[in-house]
Amino acid sequence: MLSRRNFLSKFGWLSLWGTIGGLFMDKWFMPQGVSAKSNPKGLDTAEKYHQESKHSPLNIFTRIREPQPPLFKKYPASEKFKLPQDFKWTGISVEEAIVKRRSKRNFAPKPLSLKELSCLLHYAGGITDTHRGLRAAPSAGALYPIEIYPVIHRVEGIKPGIYHYSIEDHSLELLKTGDYRQKLSEYCLGQETAGRSAVAFIITAIFARTKWKYQHRAYRYVLIEAGGIGENIYLSAESMGLGACAVGAFFDDQINKELEIDGLKESAILVMVVGR
Ligand SMILES: Cc1cc2nc3c(=O)[nH]c(=O)nc-3n(C[C@H](O)[C@H](O)[C@H](O)COP(=O)(O)O)c2cc1C
Repeated sequence: MLSRRNFLSKFGWLSLWGTIGGLFMDKWFMPQGVSAKSNPKGLDTAEKYHQESKHSPLNIFTRIREPQPPLFKKYPASEKFKLPQDFKWTGISVEEAIVKRRSKRNFAPKPLSLKELSCLLHYAGGITDTHRGLRAAPSAGALYPIEIYPVIHRVEGIKPGIYHYSIEDHSLELLKTGDYRQKLSEYCLGQETAGRSAVAFIITAIFARTKWKYQHRAYRYVLIEAGGIGENIYLSAESMGLGACAVGAFFDDQINKELEIDGLKESAILVMVVGR
């Protein structure tokens, strides 16, 4: 595990040079040439995106030309584990969970049960209306761009490793076995909580699912939806007597590489850690 001092010595210099470099990049490169012409208001990337993805009476019509991307990602060659379908939990009220919820970063070494993992995934983003295929968290146009990859450190009856949550049949697909505690902490900028947790849920987005209908506005929706799933995990963990924490600070490309996703069509956007 990376201590605070190790983290600073590993990444401190990097960020210092990054900051200095960033200041000069801004001063010397940003206001000139292309950016000055195409970006006369001097907006940063986020401001520019927000302005350009606003609805106006002229652009509310959606143009769907391509075939719809599939709603489910599948790993047909992977070993599959069916998760228990018993989601009954006599937890606290949703109001109580909202009030009591706090981000928890220290966890006991005791593992989660299979039922706890199963419930966390079901309440995070599982199918809650089998008739219509609707899920626990709302999704713009019911297009469900989010995928969940549990990195299991300590769950009874499951080998540690990286899995994909197959929402369609509520099962886990094994991507790779191994102890990822140290690596995940490093990927999360040295945050030890990622390795201390019993399970870390890497939340990714397949942007094309939402872009298919909402074009340039899709990116807003995808991030909002990740937040909804993150909150579901916070509240269900609270109700089950577990702790959770959102982790937004991570080296994107290192996580994408570990998951073997390209970081463009599909990219990690949030990590949620859970433990006892
Ligand atoms: C988008 C997002 C990213 C976050 N990233 C981190 C993180 O990288 N590390 C961390 O320890 N906490 C992270 N948090 C948790 C916040 O620090 C926490 O929610 C905040 O301090 C308020 O505390 P509370 O959640 O206990 O109410 C994140 C929260 C959100 C919503």
